[in-house]
Amino acid sequence: MSALMDMPPQEALQEMRKAGAFDDNEEAYEQLAILAEKGVHPLKLLRRRTPQEKPMDPVLSSFDVEGVARYIQEHECKRVIVMCGAGISTSAGIPDFRTPGTGLYDNLQRFDLPNPEAVFDIEFFKRKPAAFYELAKEMWPGNYDPTPTHYFLKLLNDKGILLRVYSQNIDSLECRAGLPRERLVAAHGNFDAAHVIDTDPEVEVDIDELKDAIEKGEEGWQALREEKGNLVKPKITFFGEELPSRFAELVEPDFRSCDLLLVLGTSLVVSPFCNLVSFCTGAVPRLLINREPAGTHDRLRYGFRFQEEGSGNWRDAFYSGDCDSGSRSLAKALGWDSDLESLVASKGDATVERAAWMLEGQGNAGTTNESSL
Ligand code: OAD
Repeated sequence: MSALMDMPPQEALQEMRKAGAFDDNEEAYEQLAILAEKGVHPLKLLRRRTPQEKPMDPVLSSFDVEGVARYIQEHECKRVIVMCGAGISTSAGIPDFRTPGTGLYDNLQRFDLPNPEAVFDIEFFKRKPAAFYELAKEMWPGNYDPTPTHYFLKLLNDKGILLRVYSQNIDSLECRAGLPRERLVAAHGNFDAAHVIDTDPEVEVDIDELKDAIEKGEEGWQALREEKGNLVKPKITFFGEELPSRFAELVEPDFRSCDLLLVLGTSLVVSPFCNLVSFCTGAVPRLLINREPAGTHDRLRYGFRFQEEGSGNWRDAFYSGDCDSGSRSLAKALGWDSDLESLVASKGDATVERAAWMLEGQGNAGTTNESSL
């Protein structure tokens, strides 16, 4: 093992593959390959996971929102990580992907796709770009307001206890709510920038140029393709594409130092993102706020154990319901409900006092982590 540790990440991964480590788990290999290419050593990730499966004494006094709030206060948490997905934006009017009936993937029949996810698949896009361009016209962000949950993220930041938000969303509502850009990892990209596909070094295109072209329909995007030498797309991460380098750069130091994990509004089925729930150490409490259970350990490696009785769960809590009400409940349990409502009413402009333990003289997530941004 130590010889492997001394090898460069990609070489070590190949050695592990040759030894059969991924014989029955090609998906794990592919995820590690993406991270190895960014310089993250596979052994570092695999080693950190081991202790989590060892049951330990409960770290929460109760496995609910109140227990999590007590933990935050008693342990003076200051490096909270939030992972989020489409469920935090549905109350803004943006459909999620997989809710039967209302989710985007149940409403793409007009595009005649081989499967719904094909609309975000890079190989399919290269062959048949029209479907994505048509959909992009409808999805283009702009007319939606942040939800109370987005302001809750801003609240955690203003209290000084937020390390990072890892979002799968492409609607940019986190920053619209006032979350500073450096606090966000847009893991699946967004519509802030555009690029010509298959260019190395990457050729960027002004996002407004792409927007204008898409609005003109096929004639518009074909003309842009001709002008730029290939198809142009927003910097959204498609299936088959790598996650942004910022994700790979921050994931290791962030999760190593995380002292509480909140997971909001996601089905946790898309990797490598869903695997992040296992990246914080085994004693770090995790709270899922979602309409349905997700990411449980029977479906996701080292996933949540809140459904387990007795010693089977020592740190996971589940709030079953809407993100907005779950965020409000947590804010209330922390005594921060009026701060949250001020942020909601002022659209993020209200001034919020820092958490008691983050006042004067205390380090915080910001000052200790700027070098890794
Ligand atoms: P999904 O649609 O897969 O999951 C959304 C989850 O949020 C579901 O479990 C819903 O029950 C829940 N939900 C919806 N509205 C909610 C609300 N108001 N309050 C609480 N829970 C709510 O969306 P994601 O998990 O974000 O990738 O999907 C992940 C990725 O799959 C997306 O980033 C996208 C997609 O393919 C790309 O575009 C590359």
